[in-house]
Amino acid sequence: MKFHAFPQGFEWGAATAAYQIEGGSLEDGKGLSIWDVFCLQPGRVQNGDSGAVACDHYHRFRDDVALMRGLGLQTYRFSISWPRVIPFGAGKRNEQGLAFYDRLVDELLAQGIRPCATLYHWDLPQALQDLGGWANRDTAKHFSDYATTMIERLGDRVTRWITHNEAIVTAAMGHLFGVLAPGIRDLKIAARVTHHLLLSHGLAVQALRAARPGVEIGITNANSSHEPADDREETLAATELARDFDTRLYHGPVYGRGYPESVVRYYGSHGAALPIEAGDLETIAAPTDFLGVNLYSRRRILADPARGVGFRDAPPTLPLTEMGYEQAPHALGDFVRWVSREYGKPRIYITENGACDATAPKDGVVDDQLRLGLLRGFLAGLHGAIADGCDVRAYYVWSLLDNFEWSFGYSKRFGIIWTDYETQQRIPKASARFFADVIQRNGVDA
Ligand code: FCB
Repeated sequence: MKFHAFPQGFEWGAATAAYQIEGGSLEDGKGLSIWDVFCLQPGRVQNGDSGAVACDHYHRFRDDVALMRGLGLQTYRFSISWPRVIPFGAGKRNEQGLAFYDRLVDELLAQGIRPCATLYHWDLPQALQDLGGWANRDTAKHFSDYATTMIERLGDRVTRWITHNEAIVTAAMGHLFGVLAPGIRDLKIAARVTHHLLLSHGLAVQALRAARPGVEIGITNANSSHEPADDREETLAATELARDFDTRLYHGPVYGRGYPESVVRYYGSHGAALPIEAGDLETIAAPTDFLGVNLYSRRRILADPARGVGFRDAPPTLPLTEMGYEQAPHALGDFVRWVSREYGKPRIYITENGACDATAPKDGVVDDQLRLGLLRGFLAGLHGAIADGCDVRAYYVWSLLDNFEWSFGYSKRFGIIWTDYETQQRIPKASARFFADVIQRNGVDA
């Protein structure tokens, strides 16, 4: 093994999301989110689980911040529950909800941990869904008003803001495949949602900037590194198509490149045009300060002319995690290199990376070697990308705690800290000790 030192000033953190950890879903004036409702629908979530209690972080956040401090975390990425602070999505604010985020941020700062706030990690107020949700253009305007509310409240203490977490997942999993809230399956709606999510990002960037010109603002997308499954010309072309649908569709407009032609054509041929109005693309391209990269694996691509999109996944060749993702630690460095080249070396924060590993406590010890090994490999790969000149400044592991993994309920564990859902006991895993050591030495042995 060799020690890979990260650049001085590199920031180490962990990430979570409100609905996955907070619980308190009906407390202190919080409104319903689409996830509260989705979880009530039979068959939607494994085992009938919901985030009603989750990790009870709403009440235990001080203990959780103490755990972060114990690991030496320098920064913490959390998301704000929109319906907790604006119960019906627009209009009246909920003072008790706002006060919760005040307390959380103050506690983080008191422990020397820099807060990074995500405005949207999938929990739309149900009241807005009842009006069409992201398919309704008005939601973008409500989102930017919500952004203003939050920066006015927290902007004196929170200097790093993420507008959206993984717009592709909201659009595709929520509105095309229907496996996540709100559970819709309709390409026309998914196309509208895609555009309105990006529009809302641009409007929010403007709103945040107007309120606090000095803060850092970015967007976080979901990524895999795309690998052609062989070197045939058609495979290489199919890989570019996959990049259009997975990556350029969401990054392109943010970086002023507009939507990829292949995707526009595909939507158009299905009567699912993107509802672009004059000035929208300029709004979406409002300058950002960083790109948030979430990545868990790779995709190997083959051409498939029989499918409308023109590509498909090749069968996996690497062992899988319990999520069915290939164990491909090289994917992080590879993707960072690609995205840096593609968009002119933006500043990058790895806003999520990690692994699913259900290893349970034995005699009080959680020896999650699979996760630990993958983290080691991901970090070594990331180090290589930085050595090649990519401007990566921070890394947030997903996740601080085992938590509510959306439609998988509590069956999938991503935490570096074990959560016992019966007792709410937390046990730092072997990977947490590994990560604490990485932080302390600002580097990784690999
Ligand atoms: C990402 C999500 C995050 C979590 C991880 C495993 O797509 O942003 O909430 O579900 O995957």
